[in-house]
Amino acid sequence: MPLSNRSTLTQYLIEERRRFPDASGALNALILDVALACKAIARAVAFGELGGAMGDAAPVGGEINVQGEVQKRLDVVSNEVFIRRNEWSGLLAGLASEEMEQPYQIPGSYPRGKYLLVFDPLDGSSNIDVNVSVGSIFSILRAPDDVIQSGRDVTEADFLQPGATQIAAGYALYGPTTMLMLSVGNGVAGFTLDPNLGEFMLTHSDVRVPADTREFAINASNSRFWEPPVKRYVDECLAGATGPRGKDFNMRWIASMVAEAHRILMRGGVFMYPRDMKDPSKPGRLRLLYEANPVGFLMEQAGGRASTGRQPVLGVKPSGLHQRIGLVFGSKNEVERIERYHHEPAAKESANPLFSERSLFRD
Ligand code: AHG
Ligand code: MN
Ligand code: MN
Repeated sequence: MPLSNRSTLTQYLIEERRRFPDASGALNALILDVALACKAIARAVAFGELGGAMGDAAPVGGEINVQGEVQKRLDVVSNEVFIRRNEWSGLLAGLASEEMEQPYQIPGSYPRGKYLLVFDPLDGSSNIDVNVSVGSIFSILRAPDDVIQSGRDVTEADFLQPGATQIAAGYALYGPTTMLMLSVGNGVAGFTLDPNLGEFMLTHSDVRVPADTREFAINASNSRFWEPPVKRYVDECLAGATGPRGKDFNMRWIASMVAEAHRILMRGGVFMYPRDMKDPSKPGRLRLLYEANPVGFLMEQAGGRASTGRQPVLGVKPSGLHQRIGLVFGSKNEVERIERYHHEPAAKESANPLFSERSLFRD
């Protein structure tokens, strides 16, 4: 095979850094450590049953993680990989993960740095045993000044920053190919893992989410718990060409948010895991700090939109490390439409056709 003249992830990062002559290179080093963790997880995923890391974490029924969900062995392995590849570098003040109730403190034997790394080490892990795509998703924040200055242990509060403050975010998708999608705040770039070189090569520059789409993704088994604006939106999609939207829609549901986000970055679409009335103690299914925020950052950087349904997700001030939130993201015009439905008075949210699109009552 001829030597590719594509940029590597390292080259991309160095060229991006040139925009900031004073940058130390710490962020780049951190992203490369995260990318290495993702490569290691990609190998563990690829070996599947042969690698001995499949199935539930404990012999019977699995360990229950902080989310009250059964942990897969690969959830635990992936979490370990993220920690081991990142704790030593002197770049981080602390880490937080879906799989750990409390923030992880950098051990005393290592120096501490100025960034916080927040991650879901294996997203979509219910798909692992059926050989469907899974991923890892991460968010990089700057640690509060007093943490950087004092080098003290991090607390939950140090991580509770709105998504708009993210320095970088990305995910790795372990699909037919392993890909890394990344934003350092200057658009979104996509890299494909060259399995021979073990390098992420730049294959998708300046990724843009089309503003319009005919494809939506939602777990329809929850429909009886949906709030009226969501029900209205989905009903209108389902009505297709004969309904108020005047066009047919297609539906997808992978049950790996990272894989859905990837489809949307590649060809548009809208994803919804909205707040619903299924369990009043859980305002949504997905987690703000390590699912909604990084995906929101990527969507916005690619010209798409991410929302709780009521407000841009990146504007939400977090209240807890493992806080759940309603999440809608993807093609801008569809996300804005869903937000509009949430803001319209309840009367218009009814199924009354007089109040639907193209009706006499709409201006
Ligand atoms: P995780 O495997 O990290 O717990 O996340 C799974 C999430 C997300 O990836 C996916 O969109 C959603 O849960 C699937 O939910 P359903 O089981 O309701 O389909
Ligand atoms: Mn997840
Ligand atoms: Mn997970």
